[in-house]
Amino acid sequence: MFPKSALLALAFGATAYGQLVGTYQTETHPRLPFQRCTTGGGCTTVSQGQVVLDSNWRWTHVSNGYTNCYTGNAWNATACPNARTCASNCAVDGADYSATYGITVSGNALTLKFVTTNTNGKNVGSRVYLMSSDTQYEMFKLLNQEFTFDVDVSNLPCGLNGALYFSEMEADGGMSRFSSNRAGAKYGTGYCDSQCPKDIKWINGEANVEGWQPSETDPNGGSGSFGTCCNEMDIWEANSISTAYTPHPCTVTGQYRCSGAECNTPTERYNGVCDPDGCDFNSYRMGNTEFYGPGKVIDTAKKMTVVTQFISTDGTTNGQLKEIRRIYVQDGRVVQNSKVNIPGMSSDYDSITEDFCRDQKTAFGDTNSFAAKGGINGMASGIKNGMVLALSIWDDHHAHMLWLDSTYPVDSTAPGAARGTCPTTGGDPEDVEANHPDASVTYSNIKVGDIGSTFSSTGSGGGGSPPTTTTSAPGAAQTKWGQCGGQGYSGPTACVSGSTCVVLNDWYSQCQ
Ligand SMILES: *[C@@H]1O[C@H](CO)[C@@H](O)[C@H](O)[C@H]1NC(C)=O
Repeated sequence: MFPKSALLALAFGATAYGQLVGTYQTETHPRLPFQRCTTGGGCTTVSQGQVVLDSNWRWTHVSNGYTNCYTGNAWNATACPNARTCASNCAVDGADYSATYGITVSGNALTLKFVTTNTNGKNVGSRVYLMSSDTQYEMFKLLNQEFTFDVDVSNLPCGLNGALYFSEMEADGGMSRFSSNRAGAKYGTGYCDSQCPKDIKWINGEANVEGWQPSETDPNGGSGSFGTCCNEMDIWEANSISTAYTPHPCTVTGQYRCSGAECNTPTERYNGVCDPDGCDFNSYRMGNTEFYGPGKVIDTAKKMTVVTQFISTDGTTNGQLKEIRRIYVQDGRVVQNSKVNIPGMSSDYDSITEDFCRDQKTAFGDTNSFAAKGGINGMASGIKNGMVLALSIWDDHHAHMLWLDSTYPVDSTAPGAARGTCPTTGGDPEDVEANHPDASVTYSNIKVGDIGSTFSSTGSGGGGSPPTTTTSAPGAAQTKWGQCGGQGYSGPTACVSGSTCVVLNDWYSQCQ
């Protein structure tokens, strides 16, 4: 997630933030069922699935009254003379998900509306986390697994980002590690990501009040002297024009409070503990400009199923992460990710691997901070330890989302600069919020499970039938995890030794 730090736009009339628990509004998490799948056993619904709003968006007030602890851009100096006193004086309250924040659930579908006008003013954007109980985030361990969801991006224009990603947060939001945090996961505390965001009001159970500077462009945002860092796996950052998936490793394990240069400051972007750029696969940027967008191969005018596979070196959870693959399903078609079409890079690449990342950084002349922070193996530690699923909608005060959907740097014609067809003059939050307040994203049908267990040619709707193993045919051999069969497929049907061709559905067989 490129410059996420300063951009969780929160334009919310008289809002404040805190770490005790307030009682003016009962906290009721909207239920969002999801599914766990195995190749042998089909899919089981986790009916206790629910989402919780991040604490940064919540009203926080002195614990014994209605007085705000933070208003506009400023902390209340009486309630919050310092980090610890503030934490003991201030309470974070429950959320009215739909009326205040535009967050609604229908069945297994979650919709996040961009701008919601409410009695306090207006709310811009939101970020929620998936839980399977009232007090704990669901922890996803994705090695040798795949993660699948449906998404509708048709109502996400240029400059917006509907993001679905994993961060290595603590399951209880840090409540047991930091005694001053009384709110925990139930109130959406404990956020971290690879940008080491400093706009987070509460970190490690304390207010981020020290050195707090108001944002120059966001009337309700600011940043303190601490940031909160952790491994981040961006499954999906997208609007109707462009999409990217991007691992961002860190040299720290779990959530870590940074200060100074550790936080990837603007002047020392690559000196922090995390990789701010990541190794991104954006089909447009990788040279296939006809793959994703309105009316394109993956048609963003319609709902689609997005599959992301975390392939391990030995096909078990004991191995190391070696590849992150993307598959789409739309209108009954299983579509493999686009191939790379960039001078200096192999046209066989269609997924994220250590080699892909190295060659991409070289071809684009980008700093290889991905490798410097541990590369694929660095990401693997988060994938193995367990990560929290975040779902959000946001606009970008820092770089206007041009890094996702336009040309960035804006005047560059160098390889890698073109990322989508949006105008370089667009994406200013002021314009996007004024012109597209009703934009929204809908995520649905979330599934996690064994490779090949979460989708079929009908999308992720059914559990899919258990795969069957076929005998390898003679001839050229497909690499392990490559495609080896399926309707409309004409490549090699034999697999390299050590793997066999497994029929996942009518449209796709894979060497496993
Ligand atoms: C700051 O908090 C104190 C009580 O802690 C309150 O009396 C005062 O009105 C607050 N100021 C603002 C600007 O909200």
